[in-house]
Order: sequence, then structure tokens, then C-alpha cells
Amino acid sequence: MSALQNLDKIVSLAKARGFIFPSSDIYGGLASVYDYAPLGVELKRRINTAWWTAMTQKHDNIVGIDAAILMHPTVWKASGHVDSFNDPMIDDKQSKMRYRADHLIEGHIAKLREKGKDARADEVQRLLDTAGTRHGMAKDLHEIILAEEIRSPDSGAFDWTEVRQFNLMFSTQFGAVANDENIVYLRPETAQGIFVNFLNVVNTSRVQVPFGIAQIGKAFRNEVVARQFVFRMREFEQMEMQYFVKPGSDEEAYEAWKAKRLAWHTGIGIKAANLRFMPHPPDKLAHYAKAAVDIQYRYPIGWQEIEGIHNRTDFDLSQHQKFSGKKLEYVDAGAQERYVPYVIETSVGLDRTVLMVLCDAYHEEEVPGEKDGSAEVRTVLRLHPKLAPITAGVFPLIKKPELVELARKIEADLSDDHRVQYDEKGSIGKRYRRLDEAGTPFCITVDFDSLDDGSATLRDRDTMTQIRIPVERLADAIREGIRTWTPPD
Ligand code: GAP
Repeated sequence: MSALQNLDKIVSLAKARGFIFPSSDIYGGLASVYDYAPLGVELKRRINTAWWTAMTQKHDNIVGIDAAILMHPTVWKASGHVDSFNDPMIDDKQSKMRYRADHLIEGHIAKLREKGKDARADEVQRLLDTAGTRHGMAKDLHEIILAEEIRSPDSGAFDWTEVRQFNLMFSTQFGAVANDENIVYLRPETAQGIFVNFLNVVNTSRVQVPFGIAQIGKAFRNEVVARQFVFRMREFEQMEMQYFVKPGSDEEAYEAWKAKRLAWHTGIGIKAANLRFMPHPPDKLAHYAKAAVDIQYRYPIGWQEIEGIHNRTDFDLSQHQKFSGKKLEYVDAGAQERYVPYVIETSVGLDRTVLMVLCDAYHEEEVPGEKDGSAEVRTVLRLHPKLAPITAGVFPLIKKPELVELARKIEADLSDDHRVQYDEKGSIGKRYRRLDEAGTPFCITVDFDSLDDGSATLRDRDTMTQIRIPVERLADAIREGIRTWTPPD
């Protein structure tokens, strides 16, 4: 019935049903930091497992690691994050609000176009594109804001500070003595933990180029414009894989990983029509990249990046070689050659994937109500069954000991392989609705006939169809339902 217009319904469902809570909720929350609640943690774990399986189990040349969040501070000098992981920010002195200076200018350009002032918009766009080439990035952006008399979006004031570069890394003190030499950073990406372990993995894991190292872990960015629920967070998780290839074979590997990664997203049930590639134009490439493409998902807030695929060349390994003084080469004994491998990176946000999965699965439809048959709205999460936090609900029709006993036995049998929820409270219709909202694909009801014929009712979440099935066949039917599921239109 309703396509989502914004994230509001997802945010409310996530809180009400226990997928995601604001962090430190009883203290009013902490901006852009979230906790995973009982259903959310199960969903996140299943996505995590789906990615890990696709990477390490399905590729015999990809191994995993789990590097520490805290790393030697020189790592971030070598990677370029100390010098270039910055956003240009400007403050409205009256409202004290802080803005990305380039975003303010982009908003201004969009407004000029809406008013039909295309020539002016083109000129401001040109100034923005060449910012940094006249008096440095901060000064150039400041000059555009002043010359165009761009006003604060919130207060309407024209009372700006200078533009300042704001580093997005969180820093903390290492050890007991607080001084500048003891500063370490919370990693802003997991990738560097892989690069600095390249040599250790090569020397211990019998891997041969091409091979990959996969990792799932927390990353931290002091995002200034952090909003939109778990889309942009200050503490989040990344699932990253660095694929080390011989220079010259990088372009082929890059194309192959693009296709594989898109297929992974549809494989977890995302509708193909809601996914697309968005290549980075050559003049917007990150300093380390030879080519880059985003996989974008059509969120209710518009098409946005869910995953980045980058040809990082030998930039990172060469930088770490330079800063550490250690040779980070691959020795191909057969071909009698040595080289610093090129790297194809696939990097997907776990929290953004959770959000994508929830948005794609969210569905409302009108169904006949329980009492008088008048229409009511059913909210259902049509999650891929392999991701569903609870795979099956098991209900006794009413709370009679013999029905409870059989339902509890079914619950115990199925829980060897699945997360199952027993529920005996409320009408069957209400029990279905609760689990529809939790995305539970199968519900099993035991009634008095079950005691005679050994069958139960198996109800499908998406179609709401019900079939009678022998109790001993339930596990097979569920396994088959998970294997053959495709997203409903
Ligand atoms: N190692 C490459 C790298 O970190 P990125 O494009 O900055 O590249 C990769 O990040 C992915 O991490 C993004 O596609 C996104 O899914 C996720 N991500 C980045 N910043 C995020 C944030 N503040 N909150 C949630 N997810 C984020």
C-alpha cells in the first residue's frame, strides 16, 4: 500500500518493536549513536554472517582477520587520514549551528536553478569545482559564501565564522600520561587494519595473489552533519574486503567484484530495481583511487551509497612501506618476480545494510479485520527468511495443557536450527500481527485436531496462506521456504 516517504515509520517501528534504540536513551540519547535491541541484534548478526559466508566460505582465496580498533598513530599519517580526512565547516554565529561549507554552496546552486538563474548557477558551480586552487580550500569556500550572500538555513542570518577544516577522526589518550605524543585514534575505517597485516597474512596463511582479506568491525567518524538514523552514524560497523592482485589485472578484478557485490545485495532479498551503480567521476576520486563506484540503494531519503568499490592501486601498501620502513611486496617464486600488489576494495556499511533491509522489507496493506471483517492495516516486514530475527512463531490455539505441550515440543525441535518464539497470549490474529511486524516468515498453530492427526497449521507471512502439514514435516517445509524465497512485488 504505502511506499515509505521518509524514515519516520522505520524509526518508530525500530524503537517500538525492539530493533534499534537511541544510545543512552534514559539520558536523552547521544546524537547519531544507536544501540541494537533484541530483534535488531539478530538481524544484524544474520547480515554479518551472510557477508562473511559469501566472502570467506564461498571463496577459498579469501581469509578473515579481526584487527584492533586502536592502531599505531603513524598508520593514520601513512593512510592520509591525519592530513586529508577533513570536512570544511562553517558556523552560524547567531544560531551556533555548524554546516558543511560545500553543502551550503550546493544548496544555493540548487535554489538558483529552481529560480531559472542557470548562468549564475553555472558560474557558482565553476567556483565550487575549482575551490582550493585560489587561496586554499577553506578561504575559497568562505569567499563564495560571502560573495553569494548565502544565509544560514536555520536562522536566516548572514553572520558566519571563517571556514575551518574539521578532522573527522576521534582521538583519545593512550596510557596514563596525557600529552600530544600519546594521542591515538579510533579507526575511521577498518581497511587499514588489513593493510598493516598484509605481510603477516602472506607469511602465515599460504595465500597467493590474487587473494583477499576480509574483516567486519567498528569504525568511528565524528560526522558533523550526522543524521538520518543509522544511515550516518558516529560509531558504525563496516564489512570490508581488500583483494590483492597483480598490477595490470586490477581492472578485470574491479569489474568482477562490482558484479559479485551487486549480486550479494539481491541475494539477501533486496529488490533489484532499488539498487544501482553510481561511478565516481574521475575529478571526484579519492586521493588513493584509480576508479571507484558506489552501489546505491533507493532509501526513502533518495538514492544513497550503501557500498563503495574502489581500485586503490598500490597506494596504501606503498604508503605503509614508506612510513614503516618494511618491504610490503609479494614474491611470486614461480614467475620469479616481486611487486607491491594493487588492491580492489569492497566496503559496505553493516548499519546501512540493516537500514536498507528494513526499508526494502517494510510493507503496509489492507486486510480484513479480525472482528467484523472491516479493513485494517497490516504492517509486515517481508524480510528474506534467512535474515529474519525470528524464523518461526509457535502457538497453541488456546492455553490448554495438551496443546501447550505439543507446541512446546515443536518449539524445542525447531530451535536446534532456528530462532523460534513461543506465544500463547492474545488472539491468533494478534499473535500473527506481532510477528508480521518482526518479519517472522512462518507461524505454526497447534489446535485440537493436531492432537488427533499429528498436523499443525503453517502460515506464510507474505501471502498469509495457511496449510495443514504433519508436525514431523515442519522442519523440511521451513528449510524449503527459506531456500526458495523471492521478494514479493
Ligand atoms: N575503506 C573505504 C571506506 O571507508 P567509505 O565510502 O568512507 O569507504 C564505506 O565507507 C562504507 O561505510 C559506506 O559505503 C557506508 O556504507 C559505510 N559508512 C561510511 N560512513 C558511515 C557512517 N558515518 N555511518 C554509517 N555507515 C557509514
